[in-house]
Amino acid sequence: MYWYLPLVWTMSFWDGWMNAAPLIAHPLGADDVDFAAELHSEAFARPWSGDEFLSLLSKPGSFGFVARRIGDRQGPPAGFVLARQAADEAEILTIAVSRKARRQGVGRLLMDSVLEKLHADRAASLFLEVDEDNLGALTLYRHLRFEEVGRRPAYYADASGRRTSALVLKRPLR
Ligand SMILES: CC(C)(COP(=O)(O)OP(=O)(O)OC[C@H]1O[C@@H](n2cnc3c(N)ncnc32)[C@H](O)[C@@H]1OP(=O)(O)O)[C@@H](O)C(=O)NCCC(=O)NCCS
Repeated sequence: MYWYLPLVWTMSFWDGWMNAAPLIAHPLGADDVDFAAELHSEAFARPWSGDEFLSLLSKPGSFGFVARRIGDRQGPPAGFVLARQAADEAEILTIAVSRKARRQGVGRLLMDSVLEKLHADRAASLFLEVDEDNLGALTLYRHLRFEEVGRRPAYYADASGRRTSALVLKRPLR
């Protein structure tokens, strides 16, 4: 009757071990776009399709990263970031971390990977837009020394029609 208990134990041990394994960031590639679309739809009300990600990724200056646990090369990533660079300025187009992987350092690793690449390219600044109500993301960006440089009033609307501002944040890189 309880023959399946060792299996359940083995699976939860494996899950626990995988969640404790160190994270690593890889460049976002064409093979990752469907995973990115899935994570994006989990995080945002207006999801982007895999084809939209592929089209954005193929534009000049576009790049991104996915974060995976070491040893989990094939499975869905824990998170991804997509950015675009033009001359010495860059912007974050989107970033999302799987709900079950949040508050484990994935978002920080993805943003650090973008910053590291931009430093190597000698870029001058990184911009992004964030909902004024997105306190988790705002806390992450403030830790990374982003500063508010603009505001677009009533830029976002939730399902009930309530509108919130987009904050434009800048991270100087020099
Ligand atoms: C915002 C987001 C990318 C953060 O990813 P994450 O992997 O959970 O972030 P991290 O674990 O790297 O967090 C790093 C630090 O940011 C801050 N932070 C992140 N999420 C937070 C939250 N929900 N509340 C408060 N602080 C938060 C904390 O200071 C955290 O450090 P700590 O856990 O040691 O306290 C993730 O919550 C997400 O995908 N949200 C939905 C999509 C989204 O809002 N994207 C941003 C649009 S601009």
